[in-house]
Amino acid sequence: MNSIIDNPALAEAGSNRMRWFMEQMPLITQLKETFSKEQPFRGLTIAICLHVEPKTAYWIDAILSGGAKHVYLVGCLGTTKPDTAAFLASNPKITVLAREADTMEKHQQYLEMVMEQKPDLLLDNGASLILSYCKKDRSWTPLGANEETRTGRLLIDASGADIPFPVIVIDDSPLKKLLENAVGVGQSVLDAFMRSTSLLLGGKRTLVIGYGWVGSGIANKFRAMGAHTSVYDVDPVYLLKAKVDGHHVSDDLEQLLREADIIITATGRFHIITKEHIPCLRSGAIVCNAGHFGFEIDAEDLIQAAECVEDVGNGRQLLRYQDKHIFLLSQANPLNLAAGDGNPISIMDLGLGLQACCGARIATDRSKLHNGVQPVPRDIDCFVSQSMLHY
Ligand SMILES: NC(=O)c1ccc[n+]([C@@H]2O[C@H](COP(=O)([O-])OP(=O)(O)OC[C@H]3O[C@@H](n4cnc5c(N)ncnc54)[C@H](O)[C@@H]3O)[C@@H](O)[C@H]2O)c1
Repeated sequence: MNSIIDNPALAEAGSNRMRWFMEQMPLITQLKETFSKEQPFRGLTIAICLHVEPKTAYWIDAILSGGAKHVYLVGCLGTTKPDTAAFLASNPKITVLAREADTMEKHQQYLEMVMEQKPDLLLDNGASLILSYCKKDRSWTPLGANEETRTGRLLIDASGADIPFPVIVIDDSPLKKLLENAVGVGQSVLDAFMRSTSLLLGGKRTLVIGYGWVGSGIANKFRAMGAHTSVYDVDPVYLLKAKVDGHHVSDDLEQLLREADIIITATGRFHIITKEHIPCLRSGAIVCNAGHFGFEIDAEDLIQAAECVEDVGNGRQLLRYQDKHIFLLSQANPLNLAAGDGNPISIMDLGLGLQACCGARIATDRSKLHNGVQPVPRDIDCFVSQSMLHY
């Protein structure tokens, strides 16, 4: 199967850019050396659905060093870096199905194409591969799968699928929650917001919707930059936590929207901001998303309801309505990946390290795993933490 990417001529640029990231990922370097010796993935066909960006590229290099026969890589929606996709596709052992502007329909087609290759291992983000497998009666059973993020876990639970292989949920690791979600995403969303807007945050009224691990990190980082933060969450427990942390809170979303200059969704659910909310938005409000799928904001509906839409550069869209205008950033795709370089490198060294170790565990020793979802084995959390303490 040939790769489907934006521009193969960008392979060299992708390779050059990756070199910086490789230097900053000592855990993946260590695992690459171990995998080269131990060959945990020997002969396996591996399907991966992840953000196509330089950190993922170096991690795939480590997986291939572990003896994988072939990798089929599907990009997450709205976050593909075309130079990285081109670099990866230049390797005959990798088929890349990822273009920058892919739609959900295309994404689903890619997943089905990958299922036809009957992969042995699914390394997933957003449950795309796992739920694609479960959609039909399949003629083979993979050894197992990883699921990277909260949205993926929620989608698996909501599907009620009876999964006939082990699924290790990386997001259920305390390491992933405490470090990536709570610390890393706050920094990277703040960074991407600054790159995207060049605004001074001091004094900006910023509403974060969803005060879980990710939302709390974002709210705290924005407040540290001088923003006046407010929080909305459907769960009163999290709302109380936000209040105790010092944010303005309310259970009246519409009122909070009326007061906000910046609105950031981080719930892991869909349709949080819809066209019904347009009357509540301030003129000039900036709307963006940090959750895994852009569907937290009904971007298509907001755009369709507009009298006109102007591209004002750098992934920003100006949506004009009769009595106001708003700005939508990166079409509501996860801002830190769509408008920035994703999470801080050492955070993804850790997160992808967990992915690699869990993948190797599934490939080599399923004795303590059971079918269906389960957390990262404790010894892997300890190994990754102890390794990172020394870097
Ligand atoms: N951009 C990234 O790099 C990145 C990294 C990690 C996780 N994520 C994604 O971020 C999202 C949040 O992850 P998390 O770990 O914080 O999850 P979480 O479960 O800890 O938090 C989600 C919060 O949203 C709240 N919520 C649910 N429905 C809501 C609604 N309708 N309105 C308001 N609040 C609502 C929940 O009560 C909860 O407090 C997920 O989509 C996850 O996949 C993104």
